[in-house]
Amino acid sequence: MDQLTTTPALYEAYKKRLQEIADIRYATALLQWDQETYMPAGSITTRSRQIATLSELAHARFTESVTGELLTNLLERKDLTEEQRSNLELSQYDYQQQVKLPSGFVRELSETISNSFNHWVEARKNNSFSLFAPWLEKLVTLKRKEAELMGYEHHPYDALLNQYERGCTTELLDQLFSRLKPALAELLAEIKQQPQVENRILKQHFQEDQQWAFSMDLLEKMGYNFHFGRQDKAAHPFTINFSSEDVRITTRVREEDISYMTWSTIHELGHALYELGLPNNQYGLPLGEAASLGIHESQSRLWENNIGRSLAWCTHFFPVLKSYFPQQLEPYGPEDLFRAINKVQPSLIRTEADELTYHFHIIIRYEVEKALVEGSLEVNAVPEFWKQRYQHYLGIDVPDDSNGCLQDVHWSHGSFGYFPTYSLGSIYAAQFYATLVKQVPKFEKLLQEGEFEIVKNWLSDNVYIHGRKYTSEELCRRITGKGIDPEDFMQYARDKYRFIYAYKLEGIIL
Ligand code: CO
Repeated sequence: MDQLTTTPALYEAYKKRLQEIADIRYATALLQWDQETYMPAGSITTRSRQIATLSELAHARFTESVTGELLTNLLERKDLTEEQRSNLELSQYDYQQQVKLPSGFVRELSETISNSFNHWVEARKNNSFSLFAPWLEKLVTLKRKEAELMGYEHHPYDALLNQYERGCTTELLDQLFSRLKPALAELLAEIKQQPQVENRILKQHFQEDQQWAFSMDLLEKMGYNFHFGRQDKAAHPFTINFSSEDVRITTRVREEDISYMTWSTIHELGHALYELGLPNNQYGLPLGEAASLGIHESQSRLWENNIGRSLAWCTHFFPVLKSYFPQQLEPYGPEDLFRAINKVQPSLIRTEADELTYHFHIIIRYEVEKALVEGSLEVNAVPEFWKQRYQHYLGIDVPDDSNGCLQDVHWSHGSFGYFPTYSLGSIYAAQFYATLVKQVPKFEKLLQEGEFEIVKNWLSDNVYIHGRKYTSEELCRRITGKGIDPEDFMQYARDKYRFIYAYKLEGIIL
């Protein structure tokens, strides 16, 4: 690759290389999708092997020195377009990040993760943290090593956070949570003084196939295009993409609770619309990818909570839902649905938490991870620390490990630094939503009429089309005029929950 090769020819070589790597990555993703949906259970060992081989292949190809040389050469050129430069700079960042981890380390980590996952499954089934503890210990040691390899300025946990959310640090999270904690605690205390809302409307028998039909109808009405996607069932709902022309979602059904499936489906729809809206002509390149995990989660939560748990949404969808379940919904109206799906109650399980207490589940995990990584908390002390924090923040007793520190899969996957992106997502969602409401006249009315296209178009113009061009913080500034700030979330929360718990009715956005 000499200096005389023209820029367009060289850029083509870069593009071809990245797109081939993307082909391998997305083929791997398809195997993963199959594993979570239709694969016969007996095939798990072979499938794990196939996935590991392909992942290693993609990683090896990307970290070959020729990728680095291609990028350095191209980035010295003066005749790059702005778009080309963005892609190249982001690829160079990825390259520099990935080559920091020696292949021996990557293999050791991935083997430890496989074993940890199996032990976590056992430990959770047996309700015994001690079965998982030695593996968690190994993972923490490896993660500390990883932090050293990746490098950081102030805190080793910053290096891990940065892998999921570029630029995210303990300093930023400490600041954010120190504002969020007292504001949320105050609102929760106000709510606790009020009579609890009723949610019996949700807890009836809703036949599985009828729920499924409703979810497919709902997806279509909210803008999901089945020509470029599909929905299937999986134990743990997720969204997965193989390009921006094939983005699939999964959901699960509980016959005794209609909300269990419905808002999970809407959540995944939000992730899927983002992936479907990414620039198709940037396949395999950074500008064809999502900005970050935090921004991804902002998209799912904006649809699930800000849109999907609004009175306008309930008003629009109540008759639709009633057409599937006429008997169950006969005694009720849209407002009953609205209150029921927004019931606030401190609980043990993160994935079933309401949108207010949810943040405390994240803050607790953040505190545990940060303390483990910096070495101020011993692995064996995690269950006690967990119990003490749940009592402190949520006022509830954790009865055992399965309902406590063993409930999430993340640590067994080696994902330290992932949880905070969920809170960041809610906060960004509230900021984007507040901006959208200001910019779109008569927004609530349009929502009530089912004009979801407006939301999708707004998000497309403001978020989707940029791909990874901006960091989360830059994107947030571009859209809202300021960086991440929990105030919009708190304002949204106060308005909504003071109305739901009916003790303050002014200044309400319906
Ligand atoms: Co999500």
